[in-house]
Amino acid sequence: EKGGYATFMEKEIHEQPHAVADTLLGRTDEDGRLTLDEVRIDEEELRAVDRIVIVACGTAAYAGMVAKYAIEHWARIQCEVELAHEFRYRDPVLTPHTLVVSISQSGETMDTLMAVKHARSLGAKTVSICNTHGATIPRESDAVLYTHAGPEIAVASTKAFLAQITACYILGLYLAQLHGGAGARNAEEVMRQLQEVPAKITDVLGRMDRVKEIARFMADTRSVLFLGRHVGFPVAMEGALKLKELAYIHAEGFAAGELKHGPIALIEPGQPVFVVVPSPSSPHNLHDKVVSNIQEIRARGARTLVIAEDGDEAVVPFADEVIRVPQAWWMLDPLLTVVPLQVFACELATAKGLDVDQPRNLAKSVTVE
Ligand code: F6R
Repeated sequence: EKGGYATFMEKEIHEQPHAVADTLLGRTDEDGRLTLDEVRIDEEELRAVDRIVIVACGTAAYAGMVAKYAIEHWARIQCEVELAHEFRYRDPVLTPHTLVVSISQSGETMDTLMAVKHARSLGAKTVSICNTHGATIPRESDAVLYTHAGPEIAVASTKAFLAQITACYILGLYLAQLHGGAGARNAEEVMRQLQEVPAKITDVLGRMDRVKEIARFMADTRSVLFLGRHVGFPVAMEGALKLKELAYIHAEGFAAGELKHGPIALIEPGQPVFVVVPSPSSPHNLHDKVVSNIQEIRARGARTLVIAEDGDEAVVPFADEVIRVPQAWWMLDPLLTVVPLQVFACELATAKGLDVDQPRNLAKSVTVE
């Protein structure tokens, strides 16, 4: 049942190319327009949306953070992301023109379900991104976009996360199309580039020997930091979460730009820091800014574990380890850069003799508040 892998998590990590490819399947109608799976509101109402609030928990919320960049960039609709359990109880301001997008692998997470119900009771429209057909959250929503990651057994989410990010890109392009945003003109090109991602993930998975070796050497590490910027910021957060929940190691993810506002004080000689480097093709020189961050922490003794694109030589002088991923358009980077972090956490937990499929204190589906 584990398809030759020692754990479900390893199997699911290797299923990621399929999860992305299957989530991309059948998204356009005969006129080449993007579609959702179920739409129980009329398109006029979706067209009138002037604000988006994404609600989710844990890993799904990190997919939502990636979605914010994509939706605002393509659809030019204001978008915010909030943890579902915080959203619900802070008296959120919603109107009939607010679209609340929930993201949930299980479709049964109580916090997320309650947020969706609350949003509907206040008159907002709701879209669900979900991996489980007919689950409660999609049934409670006005529209649904299913991820096709297949059943996820390991408690820690991997393939569902990549499928969620993929679905978020599709939603961003769909909304751009409805709103006639600039992204609509590029939708075909973005979809074409997304189609190339599964093969690139397979490529990343084929390069993991060194990452696993590093993980095994680090089995006694007490703390690991993760830095990222732009769409790499949620990747850093996810890398830290995976390490906490699987290997029970203290880990924190930061936005690289935040470093000098406090976290740099944590850097002492030998402190391992993963840095998710934006593609050199990223806008606003973000790549160079993050390279400067690597330089700053290295000068203070950090051990830098750098995830960078093939051909990005600028990182080399400041990296103790360079973990390479294939080149991709910067917006799509998270689908590649998160994979080494998943493998790292899984391998380190395995080296510590821990049960990676069933980490302590956690349940796959959190159906209580
Ligand atoms: C982390 C993880 C959790 C879930 C979260 C939401 O590996 O699996 O953080 O992402 O509990 O679950 P769903 O997506 O089912 O709502």
